[in-house]
Amino acid sequence: MAVGVFDSGLGGLTVLDAVAQKLPDVPFAYYADSAHAPYGVRDADDIYDKTTKAVERLWEAGCDLVILACNTASAAALRRMQESWIPSDKRVLGVFVPLIEALTERQWGDNSPPREVAVEHVALFATPATVRSRAFQRELAFRAIGVDVEAQACGGLVDAIEEGDMILAEALVRSHVDALMRKMPVPEAAILGCTHYPLMRDTFQDALGAGVKLYSQADLVAASLEDYLKRHPAMIGPGQDSLFLTTGDPAKVSRHATQFLKRQITFEAA
Ligand code: DGL
Repeated sequence: MAVGVFDSGLGGLTVLDAVAQKLPDVPFAYYADSAHAPYGVRDADDIYDKTTKAVERLWEAGCDLVILACNTASAAALRRMQESWIPSDKRVLGVFVPLIEALTERQWGDNSPPREVAVEHVALFATPATVRSRAFQRELAFRAIGVDVEAQACGGLVDAIEEGDMILAEALVRSHVDALMRKMPVPEAAILGCTHYPLMRDTFQDALGAGVKLYSQADLVAASLEDYLKRHPAMIGPGQDSLFLTTGDPAKVSRHATQFLKRQITFEAA
């Protein structure tokens, strides 16, 4: 009875950690496409091809339900996958909608017409591919009116995190926040729209200032998965084991993952 969690690399571990805490009896199979990270600089067709390959591997591992714990894949590939690729006995869910529902103060699946919400000025930090897709703005427009979104593509940040170069990662966060604040001096809220970015949460908060409310996805996705599995218990697949798969070097990926999550994580070759 396993659920799959996919990311291009280590970022989805922030989501895995939260879902595993909320659902301790469910085994999770995690897939990091480390050999091809970052996805944020790739085009939509390439992201689609790589994401579908990873999801097929998770289906093979006995996961009928796969969470794309990757905004870039959710933004660039998920809709196309849902339209024509996913068989009727499988599900693939993204990480965007729970975040936007939280920002727009909605309950799960509330599809009522868009309305005014408390926040007016929102900063979005995401990968270049996510920013280019405008998926965040599209999902937001279905639910809220009058929200001004300023998006900042954070080039280089995922590479620095994947390499464990935290000095570079910190410098990049500060320079991307600076660039954003030149365009939007006083955001009320900021979205960490890439699952790698919560690993730099304190730096984002420090650079933005304590008055800016930070939204990141891990807990929101965990709550929404718990709710989903209550309503669709049969979607927990036949897999029995928790496992960590990577297309990269398992020793290096395990070392960085262990450093980030502060517990031993052992990856094996996908
Ligand atoms: N962590 C991913 C995301 O949420 C992927 C980033 C990347 O590979 O560029 O967007």
